[in-house]
Amino acid sequence: RIVYVNGEYLPEEEAKISIFDRGFLMADGVYEVTSVLNGKLIDFDGHAKRLERSLKELSMNAPVTMDELLAIHRELVTKNDLVDGMIYLQVTRGAPGDRDFVFPDPETTPSTLVMFTQSKPGLADSPVAKTGNKVISVEDIRWGRRDIKTVQLLWPSMAKMMAKKAGVDDAWFVEDGFVTEGSSNNAYIVKGNKIITRALSNDILHGITRAAVLRFAAEAQYEVEERNFTIAEAQEADEAFTTSASAFVMPVVEVDGVKIGEGVPGTVAPRLREIYIEEMR
Ligand code: PDD
Repeated sequence: RIVYVNGEYLPEEEAKISIFDRGFLMADGVYEVTSVLNGKLIDFDGHAKRLERSLKELSMNAPVTMDELLAIHRELVTKNDLVDGMIYLQVTRGAPGDRDFVFPDPETTPSTLVMFTQSKPGLADSPVAKTGNKVISVEDIRWGRRDIKTVQLLWPSMAKMMAKKAGVDDAWFVEDGFVTEGSSNNAYIVKGNKIITRALSNDILHGITRAAVLRFAAEAQYEVEERNFTIAEAQEADEAFTTSASAFVMPVVEVDGVKIGEGVPGTVAPRLREIYIEEMR
């Protein structure tokens, strides 16, 4: 695999990052994941805009312009013959040459940009989408700026491990009795013609897939209600689903051992998945 590190395309074995990189020492970095279907980038503009926002919120400099970033994405697709899969990008506050809590001067410490591809043949026809995911609820103890896409993913990672241990697919975070989002996706329930999802705030990541799916849902005459919901409400809903750049729209068929509806994907989530893939590919 050919990866990108600070201006260079290299075989992955030759890519090197300083041990003083603040991404490594302090999780001082942000990331994006963009899907690729049949060689085409899905919603690059959305991801580029959110990256710019994440960088700004952390007073971090963009290592390249967004046009250059697009060119690197395309070059990685070409160099790796990527058909279906993802491109991961990470920007960190660079490597100041020592460990210090205080931010280094960006003039002397440029940010680090790393990018690599992940091949997922048949990504759009994932068999899991036909059966749906089972989830458990996990207390949301992440920090208060979940709207910034930082690489600080220890709790999401631990939540996925709890899910795995419980024999299910994923975890939904709960704070003050309400679902915030999934461990790596936004969470929704469906009641009749209505799609319910938590409103945007610092409590959740502003999903790029969320924005597109809600737009398509409105166009398809579904009602969209942005408000908090509980696990109990999800268990009594007609359907549930998640959205993310890597899994698009994914039906959720069980929460904390309770089946949602018949315990199989309903009609709304699969329809939204179809519309999303059709419109974006
Ligand atoms: N995760 N919420 C969280 C906590 C996420 O980590 C993600 C994305 C989302 C969905 O955002 P988007 O639709 O822009 O992908 C919501 C990515 C895919 C990941 O960490 O792999």
